[in-house]
Amino acid sequence: MLKIGVLVSGRGSNLQAIIDAIEEKKISAEIAVVISNMPDAFALERAKKHGIKTAVVDSKKITDKAVYEEQVIKVLEERKADLICLAGYMRLLSPAFVKRFSGRIMNIHPALLPAFPGLHVQKKALEYGVKFSGCTVHFVDDGCDTGPIIIQAVVPVLDDDTEKTLSESILEQEHRIYPEAIRLFAENKLKIEGRRVKIV
Ligand code: GRF
Repeated sequence: MLKIGVLVSGRGSNLQAIIDAIEEKKISAEIAVVISNMPDAFALERAKKHGIKTAVVDSKKITDKAVYEEQVIKVLEERKADLICLAGYMRLLSPAFVKRFSGRIMNIHPALLPAFPGLHVQKKALEYGVKFSGCTVHFVDDGCDTGPIIIQAVVPVLDDDTEKTLSESILEQEHRIYPEAIRLFAENKLKIEGRRVKIV
């Protein structure tokens, strides 16, 4: 069975959506470990509540990025993670890390990439005046939110939307498409061909 390592930094609502989909048997996989770079991330509580192994590799204490990542990799390898899911993980992975798990790292981003990569993107979408935003699940490459796109969901931007309401509408879709992308991976249905990901 596919073993997933989830990297988190905060609230963990996407982690929760993945846990729920696995418990509902929508995905044939298990979460081998949840690793947080923040000791107080609520995501850790969610994992513990479901009996999932957790680890903290504190990025504030381990300031050398290579040393920090080696520790994260050590935990992922000890737990035999086949797929790494970034779920609100607020750090960029180094090229060495990405290479180590090439084609096996996914991320969820709250915008329709390639529009609005980076941070605070719901606010940026509102300020830009786009009529639609949404979310993207993509494989991770060396860039920031630039890897091959697996699934996207579109969310209309309403006239009275605020950053909070738009974020909530997008989050609802995130919780739907992230487990779906993981299911496809678990069923070996994703084929990366250059920039394109085909669902076979
Ligand atoms: C989500 O909006 C996700 O797209 C972004 O960070 C947020 C994490 O939320 N990468 P949560 O921790 O999963 O609740």
